[in-house]
Amino acid sequence: MFESIARTLFLLVSKSRLLKRAVSRYGTRGPHSFARRFIGGETFDELIATLHTLSHQGFSHTLNHLGEHVTSRDAAHTASADYLDTVDRVGLAGLPCKISVKLSQIGLETDRGLCVENLRQIVTAAKRHGGFVRIDMEGSALIDQTLEIFERVWADGHRNVGVVLQSYLYRTSADLERVLNLGARVRLVKGAYNEHPDIAYPLKADVDAAFVHLSHRLLREGTTPAFATHDPQMITAIRAFARDHGIGNEAFEFQMLYGVRRDLQMALLADGYAVRIYVPFGLEWFPYFMRRLAERPANVGFVIKSVLYEQRGS
Ligand code: FDA
Repeated sequence: MFESIARTLFLLVSKSRLLKRAVSRYGTRGPHSFARRFIGGETFDELIATLHTLSHQGFSHTLNHLGEHVTSRDAAHTASADYLDTVDRVGLAGLPCKISVKLSQIGLETDRGLCVENLRQIVTAAKRHGGFVRIDMEGSALIDQTLEIFERVWADGHRNVGVVLQSYLYRTSADLERVLNLGARVRLVKGAYNEHPDIAYPLKADVDAAFVHLSHRLLREGTTPAFATHDPQMITAIRAFARDHGIGNEAFEFQMLYGVRRDLQMALLADGYAVRIYVPFGLEWFPYFMRRLAERPANVGFVIKSVLYEQRGS
């Protein structure tokens, strides 16, 4: 009960411009700054340092230039240009160009044609560096359009692009069928948005059961599927299914968010699994950060400790 109220509250707060301005001044500055734990850096230099550290530890990465729901063509152009710049800078630094993009950030809600064009440019730029673009999945109002745009870019002949599917939605089994038919790569997640029970399982047990069921299909028929979860039960189920069906560790990967369950990230690496870390970076960290609190209200304790540290100046 408490968890569900806290979740709804944090998801509401994630949309507040006023709070965003107020909180941003603590942001990601300083070693104890509360958002820094979950954000790979605000600047490119910070990001590149983070990526080198992850790479030395044995992790691969996917980058997300923070931002979503732009409301003008100019802002969509800017976000897209930022991604093109990111691809080039990361490539020049000798690091893999694996990125995650939200279509609402590059114009989906302002000009669909512009969004498609921006995505094509980003996918083409990533290809030049041998990179890959994952289209993040957003709230349910954007799913049809996101899948259609993905299919359009796939139909252009681009193969370095994949999508995300969310197990909390009743529709996902059919969407998975659609993506499997193409042979495209899927990242499976539980889903991070507040969805109505008419379209999404309200109970965690059902979301989990759907996740396991979908993971089996992906392990059997998917193209290098990615299982993005911090849930030890999901991970155990995937490992067991792969082992029992003779599916090697190289056939799939686990993905986790930067700063979340670092113990589990290391343990999976040590057991010989591929682990990709989703690294968000940039200045627009507030809504992303609030969604992490919504997922696990206990993270608030971590935030409070960070603020106290900072105020004591230690
Ligand atoms: P769940 O929330 O069921 O919790 C299980 C356990 O995991 C908890 O008990 C705790 O131990 C741990 N845990 C989970 N979240 C934590 C946190 N924030 N801090 C500390 N511990 C935590 N969603 C979406 O809708 N579209 C997308 O494109 C993506 N993309 C994406 C990429 C990657 C790499 C990841 C890991 C996740 C996403 N998500 C996403 C988010 C996803 O839908 C989901 O909201 C979160 O991963 C939380 O669900 P879990 O399966 O991790 O665990």
